[in-house]
Amino acid sequence: MSGIVVLISGRGSNMRSIVEAGLPVAAVVANRADAAGLEFARGRGVPTEVVDHRAFASRAAFDEALAEAVDRRSPRLVALAGFMRVLTAPFVARYAGRLLNIHPSLLPAFPGLHTHAAALAAGVKIHGATVHFVTPELDRGPIVIQAAVPVLPDDDADRLAARVLAQEHVIYPRAIEWFLAGRLTVSGGTVTVAGGREAQLVFAPAVVA
Ligand code: GAR
Repeated sequence: MSGIVVLISGRGSNMRSIVEAGLPVAAVVANRADAAGLEFARGRGVPTEVVDHRAFASRAAFDEALAEAVDRRSPRLVALAGFMRVLTAPFVARYAGRLLNIHPSLLPAFPGLHTHAAALAAGVKIHGATVHFVTPELDRGPIVIQAAVPVLPDDDADRLAARVLAQEHVIYPRAIEWFLAGRLTVSGGTVTVAGGREAQLVFAPAVVA
């Protein structure tokens, strides 16, 4: 087993940050042929594949085809990077312990979609992003690293999303590096990083627009 398979649905900026960090991406798999990130991957010579969810009658059938595409690369790690399909329990179980996701909130706050609008509506003053191991319960797996950003008085969802996204690009490659170096341990639902004192929390400066 070697390398990472990155699953995307759209823009692919997190995938790009992983490739640009020099991490060993074996393939990028998208559930849509028009996922913009595919072009970047092709330009970098990274193998790509499309498994279009609309071609399958059920979630289970799609997930089986997706798993076949993933397994063709025999990856050590599967990284969800803006992959906007909910995965079935068998898929999650197949990659247990080697399936990571990035989510645009400080979990367990604001699981699901529209996290930035939800954070603004809740009036929180700190928001952020989380890299976590995927477990069957959506957006609930053990947390590897989080980035916190301030919520500023004149924010709208787009401004806040951009501030969070910049930090996603910092924490996802870092989490993957730790994983590939065999430094992550999950115990009782808590993740620790062995052999170092790197923080599992990044604070973005308040001046970042
Ligand atoms: C990112 O903000 C990621 O955290 C989020 O989608 C965006 C994808 O951007 N993921 C989710 O909401 C997962 N539920 P990208 O395609 O540019 O990486």
